Amino acid sequence: MKKADIHGKWALVTGASRGVGRQICLGLSQYGCNVVLHSREVAHTQALAAELIAKGIQVRHVEAELSDQKQVDKMLTELLINGPAIDILYNNAAVMGSFRGDWTNVPAEDFRKCFEVNVITLIQICHRLIPPMIKRRWGRIINVTSGIKDQPELIAYALSKAAVDKFVADTVCRLKDTGVLMNLLDPGWLRTDMGGPNAPGAVESVLPGALVPALIDDGTTGQLIRAQDYAGKTI
Ligand SMILES: NC(=O)c1ccc[n+]([C@@H]2O[C@H](COP(=O)([O-])OP(=O)(O)OC[C@H]3O[C@@H](n4cnc5c(N)ncnc54)[C@H](OP(=O)(O)O)[C@@H]3O)[C@@H](O)[C@H]2O)c1
Repeated sequence: MKKADIHGKWALVTGASRGVGRQICLGLSQYGCNVVLHSREVAHTQALAAELIAKGIQVRHVEAELSDQKQVDKMLTELLINGPAIDILYNNAAVMGSFRGDWTNVPAEDFRKCFEVNVITLIQICHRLIPPMIKRRWGRIINVTSGIKDQPELIAYALSKAAVDKFVADTVCRLKDTGVLMNLLDPGWLRTDMGGPNAPGAVESVLPGALVPALIDDGTTGQLIRAQDYAGKTI
């Protein structure tokens, strides 16, 4: 794979405190990429920050409850004014809601919460960070999706990820020849707080595949990259 040099670039990773997001940050640090760590509270990313700083990586923290558009707006405004220019965006944070035992009775609130965090905020973050990337003629946007299927008990979550897929499919035409690539990442079913203890994959198996859409340098855009296709391999 032809790899971009991301040493010294800055990535924003939402949901960086644990699970897939934490692995992505550790993976990016191996390439010398600096990271803005997002979670709901700065305290959640302190331990990871210390680990990254010890490796010589520069770190910033941002916090926001992603279902609250005022907090999202404040976080992005502060980042755009005072933060480093973001070269790589991992829209990783998401909510799934409860597994509804009766799949014919999924509360409307499940849809609202999943769409607010997983779709509306994700798009909001893209829309605010893409213009400066276009100005600098380089950017990598990675929107984390899911291979979930045949689980109507989690339909609110599944539909929100389908909406993310559609957002990417319909947006890439506007990014043509800008230097900004936008792709989807499916991490696979992994043992995280969201994936649960019965998931087949260790969270570490998301690497190195999760880094492929950040490192990719052959113009690939609008594609679904499955992290598990790269598990145990060198990229
Ligand atoms: N795990 C799987 O099997 C699997 C499979 C397919 C796709 N995915 C996708 O992979 C991504 C990461 O999943 P994961 O398993 O790593 O999740 P996770 O372990 O539950 O971690 C979630 C992360 O998102 C943040 N977060 C959660 N709700 C938030 C909210 N309302 N506002 C702001 N931040 C919030 C958390 O921050 P705090 O520290 O503040 O809580 C945490 O850092 C998600 O997009 C998920 O849909 C996961």
